[in-house]
Amino acid sequence: MDRVRAVKISGTGMAVPPRTVTNHDLVSVLNTSDEWIQQRTGIKERRHVDGGTGPSELAYEACLKALEAADLGPELIDLVIVATLSPEHYFPGTASFLHTKLNLGTTPAMDIRCQCSGFLYAMNVGKAFIASGQYDRILVVGVEVHSSGLDMTPRGRDVSALFGDGAAAVVLEPSPDPERGIVAISLHTEGQYAEKLWIEAPSPRYQPAFSNHMIESGQAYPQMDGPFVFRHAVVRMPQVLREVLKSCHLGIADIDMFLFHQANLRINEMVAKTLDIPQEKTFNNIEKYGNCSAASLPMCLDETVRAGKIKRGSLVCMTAFGSGFSWGSAVIRW
Ligand code: ACO
Repeated sequence: MDRVRAVKISGTGMAVPPRTVTNHDLVSVLNTSDEWIQQRTGIKERRHVDGGTGPSELAYEACLKALEAADLGPELIDLVIVATLSPEHYFPGTASFLHTKLNLGTTPAMDIRCQCSGFLYAMNVGKAFIASGQYDRILVVGVEVHSSGLDMTPRGRDVSALFGDGAAAVVLEPSPDPERGIVAISLHTEGQYAEKLWIEAPSPRYQPAFSNHMIESGQAYPQMDGPFVFRHAVVRMPQVLREVLKSCHLGIADIDMFLFHQANLRINEMVAKTLDIPQEKTFNNIEKYGNCSAASLPMCLDETVRAGKIKRGSLVCMTAFGSGFSWGSAVIRW
């Protein structure tokens, strides 16, 4: 590596499908209640795609907005990185389907599979490519279409009430000002808990990899040990947040805006309480969109940037925890 460059986010954008599904809409489908969902998670509604809309459509819309905000055309992009747990197809990656919509010729494109912390992993990969001088402009996208893969019967109610569809993208570029941009990122994985939140099948581990039994038994739907995940999230998120701040010699009081993954409002409130973070320095949109996994953090970023809550010079800290288990935290000077 002959040079290390500072890397900034030069544009953000997001997209959600137009169809709103309220908690009331799920009551008879999932045998649930608005009260249960709101009290346990903070969610009031989420967006679901209509049939035929895949993740690459949402990602495309988000990318166009991010490119517009960065004042760049897609032809200037050197690499596309898509973070998702709900890929368009088993293979090839969602990045290929997005790539053709963006008309990117032979520009490289790839997927990253790190679930709810996927955006932080993808941003770190993008940062490393730009810092090393290999690429100049990278699109990093978080996208999920969860709705079509959920068990929309009472059997799936502990998971299916939580998730929504959405996408958000950022453009990464070299920062001429070394003080501005991504300051630090800390990432972790604890694979021993992979089966605490996963989709077991289809899987090449089984012969055959696909079967009707997988749908009937529920193996083909997301399974989560919710209380177990919750207990780990409220420990790991403060831990990694402290770690990333320490790595760049900053304290909680230095940060202007804390953005957390949107899995559960109670998790985020507990993390904020543990770290003495005042409510006005936090932002949540889970009430409107539910958990959009890899898209949740960049959706929060886009909404806070566009609302003027993040301004030039603001210090932003983004933290996520999710399936894998994988988690991480990033500090950005805007
Ligand atoms: N409606 C009504 N009742 C329900 C529902 C529902 N949608 N879902 C579960 N219940 C019932 C359960 O059956 C259980 O009933 P029982 O006591 O009669 O057995 C009761 O509610 C309590 O269930 P718990 O699972 O203990 O509820 P909890 O308070 O833990 O809340 C929740 C569940 C919201 C899932 C919580 O555990 C959570 O948020 N966990 C963490 C989620 C997370 O962080 N995920 C990581 C990111 S996602 C990713 O990476 C893909």
